[in-house]
Amino acid sequence: MEKVNSKYKVLFVCLGNICRSPAAQGIFEHIISEEGVQDCFEVDSAGTYSGHRGEMPDRRMRNAAMYRGYALTHRARPVSGLDFLDFDLIVAMDDQNYEDLMHLAPSVEATHKIKRMASYLTTHKISYIPDPYYMGAEGFSLVLDLLEEACRNLYTAIVRARF
Ligand code: 4NP
Repeated sequence: MEKVNSKYKVLFVCLGNICRSPAAQGIFEHIISEEGVQDCFEVDSAGTYSGHRGEMPDRRMRNAAMYRGYALTHRARPVSGLDFLDFDLIVAMDDQNYEDLMHLAPSVEATHKIKRMASYLTTHKISYIPDPYYMGAEGFSLVLDLLEEACRNLYTAIVRARF
């Protein structure tokens, strides 16, 4: 892959940037820290909806994540056009996020950076990461199960392709 000497930049995207994508960011950051390769990556998250701009992750997601050892400190921000230039990979949590990103992408080349998070799932048979916002505690736990598997497989896929 190109740009071998620069950081590999991954952006996780959901709707509000307060539940799924900051959790994915926290889990992925945890993996690269455990692997000792945090200097090789830049990781961020954003939302297609700007209404939660500046907010911490949803308290329910922060608590569920903390229970598994992930401290989520991201502040919500909307996706911008510059993100399509800046990041190498843009990972959508569900089909609506994917479609919204495809419409926002400034070029055909930029659309090739957009992937579905669920495409990195192996044992879970589900094609999207469900929105836990209106779910109970089981919803947040399920989302974390899915994100943990997808992040691990995504990490492996990047390392195989790039390093
Ligand atoms: P997220 O969850 O996209 O995983 O951050 C949501 C957060 C907020 C809203 C919807 C989904 N909302 O409608 O405000």
